[in-house]
Amino acid sequence: MPESPPKSPPAASAAAASVPAGPRLRIAIDGPAASGKGTVARAVADVLGYRYLDTGAMYRALALVARQRGVPLTDEAALADLARSVRMEFRAADGPGPARIFVDGHDLSEAIRTQQVGEDASAIAVYPAVRRALVALQQALAAEGGVVVDGRDIGTVVLPDAELKIYLDATPEERARRRWAELQSRGVDVGLDEVLAEIHRRDRQDSGRATGPLRKADDAITIDTTGRPPDDVLAEILARAAERGARPPTPIAPGSGADAGRPTTGALDASPPDA
Ligand code: DC
Repeated sequence: MPESPPKSPPAASAAAASVPAGPRLRIAIDGPAASGKGTVARAVADVLGYRYLDTGAMYRALALVARQRGVPLTDEAALADLARSVRMEFRAADGPGPARIFVDGHDLSEAIRTQQVGEDASAIAVYPAVRRALVALQQALAAEGGVVVDGRDIGTVVLPDAELKIYLDATPEERARRRWAELQSRGVDVGLDEVLAEIHRRDRQDSGRATGPLRKADDAITIDTTGRPPDDVLAEILARAAERGARPPTPIAPGSGADAGRPTTGALDASPPDA
């Protein structure tokens, strides 16, 4: 089944109200489920005035839309067709907070954060044709640089020549505790044992698949986040980025006509322009 990548790179505009400083690195952050990637990746992007690309959200959104539209989660070709035909975008949030993911104009940002969607995403992520479709979009979105991309295969497949590659890890027990606390805070009542079992299942599925498995790139820096506060991990990654020349952006002076506040995550259009 032939798949074609996007015909031309989709728009990926940075909306930071600040002057970019230093080289616009591509920072790849990989790691297993609940390793803290998302929190840390977003924070790195915020500090450096970079865009943040959550590739897990793309697999989740595709899985959710497949269910909504009755596409079987076992039909590789139909799932890949769906990935190429929908318009998937990240749009900056109205207020503070991470960019939101839209599919064909629908905001799915909250709906994709359930256990079920996570399992579905992991299940469809085994299909090479699905991965090729989403990887092509991710590469186009990251092409300009000045971006932090998190996922499972970013340092190995999506951005093998990223200027900085981080592999975040933590013990399954610690990751289960984090995921459990997050679910509790959202009012989801589930046992810690159940969450730990799910973490083990996801690890097996994400590491065991033939295409784009979760794997540390040879040139990635491993950071074990077990027992470490996110700020500490953030400082370490920023230090590594600084070694490669990255600097926080210079705010635009008040009165210059632009908002000189915190940089916002730029809108990312993850669809071919004609989709
Ligand atoms: O990071 P996450 O839990 O939101 O990701 C959901 C699933 O998507 C994960 O179990 C595996 C898949 N995924 C992937 O295969 N490759 C990526 N780059 C990102 C996520």
